Amino acid sequence: MKRVDDFRLRLGKHELVPIMIGGMGVDISTADLALEAARLGGVGHISDAMINTVSDRRYETKHVKEKLALYKYNVLNEDKSSVKFNLGRLEEATRLHVEATMARKQGSGMVFINCMEKLTMNAPRETLKVRMSAALDAGIDGITLAAGLHLGSFGLIEDHPRFRDAKLGIIVSSVRALQLFLKKSARTNRLPDFIVVEGPLAGGHLGFGMDWAQYDLATIVAEVMQFLKTEQLDIPVIPAGGIFTGTDAAQFLEAGAAAVQVATRFTVASECGLPDEAKQEYFKASEDDIEVNQISPTGYPMRMIKSSPGIGDGIRPNCEAYGYLLDANGKCAYISSYNREVALHPEARKVKVMDKTCLCTHMRNFEIWTCGQLTYRLKDTTNKLGDGSYQMLSAEHIFKDYQFSTEQKIALPEILQG
Ligand SMILES: Cc1cc2nc3c(=O)[nH]c(=O)nc-3n(C[C@H](O)[C@H](O)[C@H](O)COP(=O)(O)O)c2cc1C
Repeated sequence: MKRVDDFRLRLGKHELVPIMIGGMGVDISTADLALEAARLGGVGHISDAMINTVSDRRYETKHVKEKLALYKYNVLNEDKSSVKFNLGRLEEATRLHVEATMARKQGSGMVFINCMEKLTMNAPRETLKVRMSAALDAGIDGITLAAGLHLGSFGLIEDHPRFRDAKLGIIVSSVRALQLFLKKSARTNRLPDFIVVEGPLAGGHLGFGMDWAQYDLATIVAEVMQFLKTEQLDIPVIPAGGIFTGTDAAQFLEAGAAAVQVATRFTVASECGLPDEAKQEYFKASEDDIEVNQISPTGYPMRMIKSSPGIGDGIRPNCEAYGYLLDANGKCAYISSYNREVALHPEARKVKVMDKTCLCTHMRNFEIWTCGQLTYRLKDTTNKLGDGSYQMLSAEHIFKDYQFSTEQKIALPEILQG
């Protein structure tokens, strides 16, 4: 039986360890985490989700405060259509994050940025174009198009000088989505450099309906590979979702995958951006504690730990400060749900909103604990400490476990002394 290290991912002239750490917004896949993957010869992702917030936290800008000040007059208004992002600031925030990350890069691996189309930001095309262009300007190695069909995304950057040399890939959950993307992008005469096939066990938003459990990653991967063969297209295919051990990964590589994308195992790495208390919740979670629900205002089902503090929390929409999910008409499903509850309970000091969540605020505050289905196995990847908590892991330990382990084994970290 082969192990992951027997394989290499080829992207153009680059030869990489075939392990990609998936993008996790909002700054859950930090620069530190992505840089470890690159240092170890693989691919790491940063994310541009809520990039203005990330910029304020890490680079001492004041984008959020100043946007709120500008739109404060609108806070009590149900109509958020006037709340727009300043494209210059968006560009600056993206550039700061990408430049600071790339300046620290070591090793032979690569760092990509995860760009979600569903962050529609009250001007979908304009904001996505700025985000992608600024990342390319700032020297990102590649872009992974996520959370959306991205039918026009290549077109938005086709005039960028790096359009043909940067590595550009897309995440799909079906052959159909891939076919649509290729058809609509054909005009740009550019194929994706890689295709991440994300199955139903992944974390974050799912590219499936609530019938997700009827789908199976290996089947979709085989369908995508068969389609590419029929079309005589030679594009690396990278399965994602529920690949928990090095052996799981090696099985996909033996079946013809070019690499694997993994995330859940790294949510409990010291380099991961989740607060330590949240990491302990991920360790502790049992299978029954994990659900796929429809409270994300994006309309996509999302997987999370049921006890996430953000679920049911009826805070006032924060679009003047954030507003990342406002659609092209300045609407967000949470605003409607919130207003409905306020109208039903006019006397309440605070309402509960169960059907949708203010995802911007809660992801920013790490109060929606999105996770992969196999999160309940994380406790088996480390040591339980004397005080009942679980020992944090290093990204390097997890990466190397994927790279070198065999026979479904998971290497535990050295026990912390003292
Ligand atoms: C905490 C968490 C946050 C995630 N956030 C994003 C995201 O912002 N964008 C995205 O495209 N995928 C996101 N994902 C999906 C991962 O990038 C990855 O494809 C998937 O989770 C791989 O499956 P695994 O977690 O079972 O290894 C997230 C996953 C997790 C666990």
